[in-house]
Amino acid sequence: MEHINTYLEKHKDRFLNELLELLRIPSVSADSSFRDDVFEAADYIKEKLEAAGADQVEICPTDGYPIVYGEKIIDPALPTVLVYGHYDVQPADPYELWDSPPFEPVIKQGKIYARGACDDKGQMYMHVKAFEMMMANEELGCNVKFMIEGEEEVGSANLGTFVRNNQDKLKCDIVLVSDTSMLGLDTPSITVGLKGLSYLEVEVTGPNRDLHSGVYGGAVGNPINILCNMIASLTDENNHITIPGFYDDVNELSDEERKELARAPFDEDAYKAHLGVDALHGEHGYTPMEHTSIRPTLDVNGIWGGYIGEGAKTVLPSKAHAKISMRLVPHQSSDKITELFRNHFEAIAPPSVKVKVTPHHGGEPVVTPTDSIAYQAASKAMEATLGKKPVPTRSGGSIPIVALFEEALGVKTILLGFGLDSDAIHSPNESFGLDNFFKGIETIPYFYKYYAELSK
Ligand code: BES
Ligand code: MN
Ligand code: MN
Repeated sequence: MEHINTYLEKHKDRFLNELLELLRIPSVSADSSFRDDVFEAADYIKEKLEAAGADQVEICPTDGYPIVYGEKIIDPALPTVLVYGHYDVQPADPYELWDSPPFEPVIKQGKIYARGACDDKGQMYMHVKAFEMMMANEELGCNVKFMIEGEEEVGSANLGTFVRNNQDKLKCDIVLVSDTSMLGLDTPSITVGLKGLSYLEVEVTGPNRDLHSGVYGGAVGNPINILCNMIASLTDENNHITIPGFYDDVNELSDEERKELARAPFDEDAYKAHLGVDALHGEHGYTPMEHTSIRPTLDVNGIWGGYIGEGAKTVLPSKAHAKISMRLVPHQSSDKITELFRNHFEAIAPPSVKVKVTPHHGGEPVVTPTDSIAYQAASKAMEATLGKKPVPTRSGGSIPIVALFEEALGVKTILLGFGLDSDAIHSPNESFGLDNFFKGIETIPYFYKYYAELSK
């Protein structure tokens, strides 16, 4: 496939410029003030899929943001790859922590800096360009269908319905997703597990209005103090989660499996230095890599209430709030964990307050097989372009749609991620390496080629 390098070399600058143009569209799905931009990003993807040679390209409306669909069926005898990605991005806040504006991409030291550079515009766009290249070289190895959505970062509320209502249209042999990370271009890896998610919001209400903290303090339960105590009690001195039944369904790995996962290199000192922390934290009895891959976790994502303006205001607030996420592992169920949390949180609330638990989105954990031809094809593809056989790893991130593909379409997913953990997705100064972008474009056609060959 020497054509790949010739074509890529020739069109590199344009590929990059097109990605930069896409990154300038602030398609933040969580914030309705960017509504028009989210639609514009969908149009942009549609236009580029058409230009690359896809057929039946359409913008499929949903109750939320649209799904962009396109396909190229070259031979019904060949296997079909369904490429999934998302064109929406996380909010860029806090803006003041960015070294350059999040929607004005810049290239510094071989990396593109912009919101969505890695998650997922950069990675999704690798597929559009790899497809263009395969079409131009007449080397498209499989049939392909694209499904690019605009609500991933807000829980893909409308994607499930779309998938269930379009089972024929989306019929495929494998789903291919680049929306995860790898250990590095010199240590290639393939993600074979994703965590599930149970995300909820809690509200603790004390008195019917904010009170003078001297006149009433001490006699009236302070919702913020109480919320903090309640949250603190959700983990014990071993950083074990205390919600009754929380670990009941957790799939405990055998020593053998743990050893296998520990093959992926991990430098604890570099990890700490990168994050600016002196020590790590985590459930006793497990390694840091296990905390983020095979063990369920609980984190407060935001907490607020009372007076947070300038200076001091003596106030005993009426309400306190927190957003809490639990990352789940096989075979925990998102709905079940949400219910366990709700029951427990209500049970531990002292009578001086009322609590309200509101579930947000959730998703199921997944593990994908390493003994499949699709995994072998992905492994061979990475080996072809990166020179080393990738190691399988499990990620702490969640892509709820992957479990849904299995359930609704009966197909497995290959998570061919080219991001790095240091790309700062969801954080200020998100980046994506140019080498990662171009290596991704180079690797994808090999996946198609090997997958078609191994499927024979
Ligand atoms: N691409 C990420 C998921 C991810 C990141 C997987 C890194 C593996 C490694 C995705 O866009 C994401 O952010 N997912 C959310 C969940 C979603 C329901 C909002 C997440 O993991 O927080
Ligand atoms: Mn993503
Ligand atoms: Mn994301």
